[in-house]
Amino acid sequence: MKKVITYGTYDLLHQGHINILRRAKEQGDYLIVGVTSDAFDKERGKLNVRNNVLERIEAVKATGYADEVIIEDYVGQKIDDIQKYNIDVFAIGSDWEGKFDYLKEYCEVVYLPRTEGISSTQLRAASQAVVRVGIVGTGRIARRFVPEAEFVNGVDVVAAYNPQCAEAEAFAQKHGVQPFADRYEDFLDAVDAVYVASPHLTHYDYARRALQAGKHVLCEIPMLLSAEQTRELFALAKAKNVVLLEASKTAFCPAWSHLLVLVKSGVIGDVVDVKASLSKLMPETTIREFDAAAAGGSVTELAPLCLMAIVKLLGKDFTDVHFYSKLQDGVDIFTKGELVFRNAVASFTLGLGVKTEGNLVVSGTKGYILVPSPWWLTNFFEVCYEDQNKNKKYFYAYEGDGLRYEIQEFASMIVNHRAESFRLYRDESVVIAGVIEQYRAGVNTTCLQ
Ligand code: CTP
Repeated sequence: MKKVITYGTYDLLHQGHINILRRAKEQGDYLIVGVTSDAFDKERGKLNVRNNVLERIEAVKATGYADEVIIEDYVGQKIDDIQKYNIDVFAIGSDWEGKFDYLKEYCEVVYLPRTEGISSTQLRAASQAVVRVGIVGTGRIARRFVPEAEFVNGVDVVAAYNPQCAEAEAFAQKHGVQPFADRYEDFLDAVDAVYVASPHLTHYDYARRALQAGKHVLCEIPMLLSAEQTRELFALAKAKNVVLLEASKTAFCPAWSHLLVLVKSGVIGDVVDVKASLSKLMPETTIREFDAAAAGGSVTELAPLCLMAIVKLLGKDFTDVHFYSKLQDGVDIFTKGELVFRNAVASFTLGLGVKTEGNLVVSGTKGYILVPSPWWLTNFFEVCYEDQNKNKKYFYAYEGDGLRYEIQEFASMIVNHRAESFRLYRDESVVIAGVIEQYRAGVNTTCLQ
């Protein structure tokens, strides 16, 4: 019996897939089809797959050509499968010509004609309404947002707003979007959704007016500096039936999501301590980060990601909070914060004028998880035990600047009419803003000389 194997995602199964499966089957007597797992697709940067793995397997089975369906879950699995299933022929579409020649060492490799004019990518694009996004603020993070958005299907960055006309024009020219500098309302008219990337103190006003106009809002961190304002804007988003999401980028990346489910499923026992550090030494002290009037300082700049980690790992019910800060010209260049929970304690160490190791350590009753610096660009972590032989390392893709993951979640919430993201609940954003607010109000703060 001649055994053939072929692989694919088979999202939104189309005629091209049916043709290739038929052609593959014709190469032998028995056809095995490897369908990619959801996690494997994400890891390969395929973020937009519509059907989940079970739906895709069912669709492949329904073609009637597959004698057996398996799941492809890791790089290198093809070689394992060819040996395990005693495969004679590896078949794949001609779009992969040459790419799988390395398998010739193990079996015959054939590239079969691809069906022209159709692909899952095309079908996804054709069936998805495009969300027109406008960016408010044209600074550093906005410049990184535009190329990242290109990786997300159904998102089109079309406009940029900056009250400084020259800056709006320069940004617009560089990124091929429409500039707006005068009436914010005109800018809102041109978009469906807004990414607020302006200075901290302007977030509330820009976000509120966008929500009021029925536009979805993705707001940079720190989203807002007060719990009450955060609650108010979420209530407004709810009333207007639009999405409001805090752009806490780490919360949406694949490695962080996996770390969280591992902790929640008890691999390190009960969590007793969380330590998150983030420092960014900035010699240039004339920038926004060091401007007290613009709410600069290490807490407003750096605490949101650490607080996101703490809140996701330990919850919202802390009973006590303490801060220790070193100030310079009215701005904290270093702050250590401690949050006390009933069964656990958490701390964050932040520096704009002090450097520290930027890692995250989650300690539990059975073991701990270490995410090395820079933990907030999570692509690797290790679960560690007393018996080091049981330690396990986890590696993930963290593509580009990592903003594509939050943009993807934002777009998915809009398209699927999902008001809330389990990756960062509204209540969690309220708590994060509340801690920053307490710090700014001077609650339990010791100043270091
Ligand atoms: N295929 C084909 N003709 C097409 C599209 C895909 O022959 N028009 C083949 C591919 O060459 C591959 C298999 O179908 O052997 C599975 O490909 P997959 O990546 O799942 O399909 P695409 O439509 O190419 O998906 P995407 O657009 O997401 O890359």
